[in-house]
Amino acid sequence: MNKIAVANWKMYLNTSEASHYALKLKKTENTFRQDVDIVLCPSFLSLQEVGSILSGSKISLGAQDIFWEERGAYTGEVSPADLVSSGCRYVLLGHSERRKYFHETNAMVHEKVRICLRHKIIPIICIGENWDDRRQGQKDYVLIRQLNEILGGIDVNVADALIIAYEPVWAISAGGGINATPDEVQYAHQVIRHVLLDLYDHTRVNTCFRIIYGGSVDLENVNSYAALAHVSGVLVGNASTKFDVFTQLIQRM
Ligand code: PGA
Repeated sequence: MNKIAVANWKMYLNTSEASHYALKLKKTENTFRQDVDIVLCPSFLSLQEVGSILSGSKISLGAQDIFWEERGAYTGEVSPADLVSSGCRYVLLGHSERRKYFHETNAMVHEKVRICLRHKIIPIICIGENWDDRRQGQKDYVLIRQLNEILGGIDVNVADALIIAYEPVWAISAGGGINATPDEVQYAHQVIRHVLLDLYDHTRVNTCFRIIYGGSVDLENVNSYAALAHVSGVLVGNASTKFDVFTQLIQRM
């Protein structure tokens, strides 16, 4: 399976900046490593335009969130079908910034995983402990609980694809920005893999799931994470908003 580099543009880039970046990336895509899948996650408003720029390219489009109902009276939300029609193949779920500012819970993320799988969208499920959890020795427990609450009761078919993004909150640039050591990342990925093996059989864990790392990933540290066993790629926020940095980062994975 290819490695993956996901750019989470958060609310950093406006539509014109996002489109300009996507166009430049599309024009140069053949110069990048072909064994790395690239996903751009712009804001909702930029999805249509970036989606039409990326159509016909190998670079994929992702949204930063989804709603769990098909349609209805949900002011401010975007329907899953609309995301699919704008070209989205991936969706970030349960990002710690959504948990912090919008009180998103594991139960909500669970519903969002369901709707993603129904629409053949690949969910990128963000989990990770905060600094207090870590200080209190609760890190493994938090990961186990998050995964069980989010995935418990969800049937995964062999054709489904899901991504778990381990993002310790304290390592995210906007949440503390402390670099996790490769050993810590390796260990957490092993914990995640074991929980997945409790929930699903070997074949499904190996063929349907990729586990990636996010949290202040940059040019200097990307290889120390991407080279680890069971780390199938990276989720990059801040560093992904700069074209030259992100494209070099892909080459160093
Ligand atoms: P960062 O963000 O790379 O800026 O730390 C990662 C994320 O929040 O997904």
